[in-house]
Amino acid sequence: VQTLDDPLPTTFWVSPAALVDKIVEELRGNIRSISKSFLRPLRWETEFRAFSINLSRKELRSSSEMSHFRELLIEYSEVGVLWRQEECSMLPAHFLDIRQGDRCLDMCAAPGSKTAQILALLGERNRIEGSHEQALKFNFDEHAGFVLANDSNCKRLDMLIHRIKNMTAYYPYAIFTNHDARFFPTPLQRTFDHDRTQRRYTEVNRSFNKILCDVPCTGDGTYRKNAHALRCWNEANAFMLNPLQLDIGMKAALLLEEDGLMVYSTCSLNPIENEAVVYSILRLCQGSLVLVPPSEYSIVTLCGEEEKFNVRPGRSQWYVNSSLREQYMNRGNFPLCCLEERFDSYSPPQEEEDSLNLENTMRIYPHVQNTGGFFIGVLKKVKPLPERITKVVSQKLTSQRPRDSDTDTPRFLRAPTLFREISQFYNITELTKLLSCGELICFSPGKGKEASHGKKVNFVARSALEAIDRAGDDWNVVNFGLRIFCFDRPAKLRDAFPWRITNECVQLMSQLFEGRFNTTDESLGQSRVIALPTSVARGMLLSPRKSITRERLCEMVTGSGEIFSALPVGGCIFYLMGHSCVFRAFSGYLTTYSAQSSIPDRELPAYLHALRGEDHPWG
Ligand SMILES: C[S@@+](CC[C@H](N)C(=O)[O-])C[C@H]1O[C@@H](n2cnc3c(N)ncnc32)[C@H](O)[C@@H]1O
Repeated sequence: VQTLDDPLPTTFWVSPAALVDKIVEELRGNIRSISKSFLRPLRWETEFRAFSINLSRKELRSSSEMSHFRELLIEYSEVGVLWRQEECSMLPAHFLDIRQGDRCLDMCAAPGSKTAQILALLGERNRIEGSHEQALKFNFDEHAGFVLANDSNCKRLDMLIHRIKNMTAYYPYAIFTNHDARFFPTPLQRTFDHDRTQRRYTEVNRSFNKILCDVPCTGDGTYRKNAHALRCWNEANAFMLNPLQLDIGMKAALLLEEDGLMVYSTCSLNPIENEAVVYSILRLCQGSLVLVPPSEYSIVTLCGEEEKFNVRPGRSQWYVNSSLREQYMNRGNFPLCCLEERFDSYSPPQEEEDSLNLENTMRIYPHVQNTGGFFIGVLKKVKPLPERITKVVSQKLTSQRPRDSDTDTPRFLRAPTLFREISQFYNITELTKLLSCGELICFSPGKGKEASHGKKVNFVARSALEAIDRAGDDWNVVNFGLRIFCFDRPAKLRDAFPWRITNECVQLMSQLFEGRFNTTDESLGQSRVIALPTSVARGMLLSPRKSITRERLCEMVTGSGEIFSALPVGGCIFYLMGHSCVFRAFSGYLTTYSAQSSIPDRELPAYLHALRGEDHPWG
């Protein structure tokens, strides 16, 4: 209990792997008076390289000596390469054992740290080793898999999308939906017996082989960073949440493919929200799901090995406040999936031997490894659910909400003709290569005959688009695909080409440009790719409107000043001559008299940082 008063260390992970060493080196360089060993790697976490600094968020915020360090953390977070996340909350994504081609569902995803991890894991599994110049470094084909992030709260979902957007390399694998997880659409086949008296429910066309249920909970494991949660504590809260948690868990059990893995987790240590829910899932599924023991994972240990994360076994007995239990049972607060049975989802197993191996769930106690409190159960589906349960879950956990197909359905068009027009204007061969790597789609504001190109073109992994196609109108998709062009024609520039290239697109394409940016490539001279000396780029980014005059630019652009001055108004790409940093290219716009950058303000510090010199992390 005393540990709860101690501040929680600040922890974060870095991805992609190629940047880790440089980022850490630079962070270390910015820790002045305190020992550099304060920044230590979390050794159990080998994927992204996660780190911990023995200062709380508050201490970090108030320390003037750490101000540079803090600014760097923010700068890296803004460009999506560094994620601050509590150490124990990093575990669930790793238990999903993500492989290439996995179809992942994050049922309660916002604010999104675990989605980001799953996405980065899937992205890295799709990395094409030794990919040659002019090829994308990631595979976006039909075998690449996808990550569907769902949340019932629209505002939180928007926040999540906003955070994940700057993971440009991985974003084409992501799909975002807005459903109450209990009612997430189930692709079930309903058939009748030959005499048509009995309906049969069979599981078909499962979409997901990895599911994370990081369910809403009382959060009593977060007291170290959130004192407010302690003040709001109430014994009844866990009893109220238990049926919702169980319903979400049962829906996940139904959606999961055979041999698939499902992780149930909470940031609570209350058995009513943890073991009681897992125990109920196991009982209702009657052997279709089993608990995977922690010994199957090399990252955790029950025996205190130093290199691993220390967990404690789950409980097979717990105390239930019987008056609260009666109160909630009388109120009829049963899980939706078992309404008819008046199912008691709070109570522990009667006998130790009936516990269905609950000791294979994992408890993370704050004092053991200086973290928050957390609970995790990893379940594997070994056979289909019993038909009766399939029927009950699919009948009860089906949304009653009438669908408004005009607002809910994602309407998109594949747009090869539009795309050809855009790539002709930009005259960059790499653009056409994008088309062969994944899918390009436009969101259409109208339907059927009204369908039109809308105002943006997105790049999406084929595997993700296929899943959306298969789901038809079932999924309420809010967002997917990396925005690479947007339609924007200022009133004053009626004749200008209206499709602007986005900064996200330039980052994705710089994988294709590899090598070209390091030389003054003649073939780029004819296109809308403009080479800039570093000093000019810096001047442009530091100016109040992030622009410089065309005249000045013409003087500075080596060799191709004439061609450049004749370029019509419209979008363009700027690249830094001779620079090898990650942010060596960015999108921009040419008006009649000026050239301006389109880098979003929050990303600007990272670009300016990159321009400072060659020994920065982006180098
Ligand atoms: C514990 S948080 C999830 C944290 C998230 N996994 C992460 O790592 O950032 C629980 C989330 O569940 C969402 N939620 C609550 N009830 C839900 C429901 N019935 N269906 C889907 N999401 C729900 C909340 O909006 C909240 O964002």
